[in-house]
Amino acid sequence: MGASPPLIPGVRHVIAVGSGKGGVGKSTVAANLACALALTGAKVGLLDADLYGPNIPMMMGSTTGPEQKDGKIVPVESYEVKLISMAFLVPEEAPLVWRGPMVHQYLQAFFRDVLWGELDYLLIDLPPGTGDVQLSLSQMVPLAGAVTVTTPQEVSLYDVRKGMAMFQKVNVPLLGIIENMSFFLCGHCGERTDIFSHGGGERAATKLGVPFLGSISIDPAIREGGDSGHPIVIANPTSPQAAAFRDIAQKLIDQLGGTGKGGASIDSLLKKLKQPFTNQ
Ligand SMILES: Nc1ncnc2c1ncn2[C@@H]1O[C@H](COP(=O)(O)OP(=O)(O)OP(=O)(O)O)[C@@H](O)[C@H]1O
Ligand SMILES: [Mg+2]
Repeated sequence: MGASPPLIPGVRHVIAVGSGKGGVGKSTVAANLACALALTGAKVGLLDADLYGPNIPMMMGSTTGPEQKDGKIVPVESYEVKLISMAFLVPEEAPLVWRGPMVHQYLQAFFRDVLWGELDYLLIDLPPGTGDVQLSLSQMVPLAGAVTVTTPQEVSLYDVRKGMAMFQKVNVPLLGIIENMSFFLCGHCGERTDIFSHGGGERAATKLGVPFLGSISIDPAIREGGDSGHPIVIANPTSPQAAAFRDIAQKLIDQLGGTGKGGASIDSLLKKLKQPFTNQ
């Protein structure tokens, strides 16, 4: 019995974006990181594997579904990121309860039936927690690693530890922790408020011996970017929030051996954006 051929032979690095807890900003981070990686010149895909609440099409501003070619699915392109979501493939009356084998089947279709082509990075936006999607995924494709998103407070960090332990158990490398909603900078007076406390993500990373990849502030513009389908990295590329996402993207590139062009100046990034949105 020979080994089965790899499901996605053209993809160099598959990166899972997860969290133990729901609503901490995984999808927001995944969408912005995908755009930030694409801006370095890397070829990037984004797979929305949240069967329960697929948000990526909305956050990436893609309203049309994918087309088919020779019985395969052609990913939709948005901001030079190829994306596929459960939202495109699952009928409106999708089941409320996903059984393990169904999860496995759908995930497999995401890889086997989608024309991803050559990609430097394929980001996977996971549902929260440590369930069937995470498990199936880790068995199905070789993951370059998992990035964990957390908010700074203790209840969230507890779940981070659980989530990371799960990845460790299935031998997925831990690429690092991102602290989202880390602090709030008042747009009027510039005062900083640590709404959910601060620094927990970095402390957890130190404790677990994994890289701390960076902090993202809590900011209405980030939320608006998600709601309007213009991720802040694209909508306001010169903002400190966009810079924070780009910095994290660069850290991932460095860690994985550097397939992005890296070090692009903000001018060249701006030129690359086909539609420079302003979101202020
Ligand atoms: N840094 C931020 N500043 C402001 N709002 C944010 C930030 N990050 C995320 N949000 C908002 O918080 C909400 C939850 O974010 P998101 O959907 O990305 O979380 P999630 O972890 O993917 O959630 P789920 O577990 O349901 O998949 C969204 O409305 C999003 O716009
Ligand atoms: Mg999500």
